[in-house]
Amino acid sequence: MLRNNIPTARYETFESSQLQQGYNFLNTLSAPYVLKADGLAAGKGVIICETETEAREQLHHLLINQPFGKAGNKVVIEEFLNGIELSVFVLTDGNNYCLLPEAKDYKRIGDNDTGLNTGGMGSVSPVPFAEAAFMQKVEDKIIKPTINGLKHENISYTGFLFIGLMNVNGDPFVIEYNCRMGDPETEAVFPRIKTDFIELMNSVAQKKLHEVELKTDDRTSFTVMMVSGGYPETYEKGKIISGLEKVKGVNVFHAGTILQDDKVLTSGGRVLAVNALGKNLAEAREKVYEQLAEITYEKAFYRKDIGRDLM
Ligand code: GLY
Repeated sequence: MLRNNIPTARYETFESSQLQQGYNFLNTLSAPYVLKADGLAAGKGVIICETETEAREQLHHLLINQPFGKAGNKVVIEEFLNGIELSVFVLTDGNNYCLLPEAKDYKRIGDNDTGLNTGGMGSVSPVPFAEAAFMQKVEDKIIKPTINGLKHENISYTGFLFIGLMNVNGDPFVIEYNCRMGDPETEAVFPRIKTDFIELMNSVAQKKLHEVELKTDDRTSFTVMMVSGGYPETYEKGKIISGLEKVKGVNVFHAGTILQDDKVLTSGGRVLAVNALGKNLAEAREKVYEQLAEITYEKAFYRKDIGRDLM
């Protein structure tokens, strides 16, 4: 991103011999501060510090005591981005690209974005704050330089590029790239794609994406994840799911389920994604929440507030 001038959080990496340089860099940022162990740390390597004193103490702890072992050898200090997250999906054949519908994901387990992080508890597409002017900035400042950067660096990339970004006062900043679609974003995005999907995939494989027009449904697509009680910590599997035959007017995507003797049982943390299209968010939400009540299994859980912040 730095090489290609793509907006992202300002960051620098420090080793244990560079504690003073780390302190100096902290001094150039404003609170809060993000410290990351530069390696895999089972999702526990990110620390957010509210004050510079706390950040200095944590930096000392991470670099000198190395609580994450090898993963903490180096520490990344990063600027904190304060804004709203958006998931943007690009399909590229390496030269041409098309922008798929965007989505908003809800990552925390509890209502009002509380509790532990999950793989995603619901999604909405389109996202009201992703209006034309903002998306133009996303294309100009992020997507085009990313596709061009890949080409210039001789990285042959064909397929989905999922860009997790932050809208900071109307300006987009990249948080992450993923070489895949998102979940549960896919279960909100795909129902809005009207172009024959096989045609789209073929055109990507044949590097002729520019010959296919992406047609999308203007309606709002709304998805809620039903999960196993206890998720994202320990949960039980093998609960009988009832009511699937009763639901009407929604798409039910199976994630953590298994078919056993004609019965559908839970077999994972995130069990079902229930989606509906509506003329607006209120209508799509109502359909999904009404039908969710029909589907039952022991200790089923879902968030009741998906999309409320966008109403
Ligand atoms: N929902 C976020 C992801 O798929 O990474």
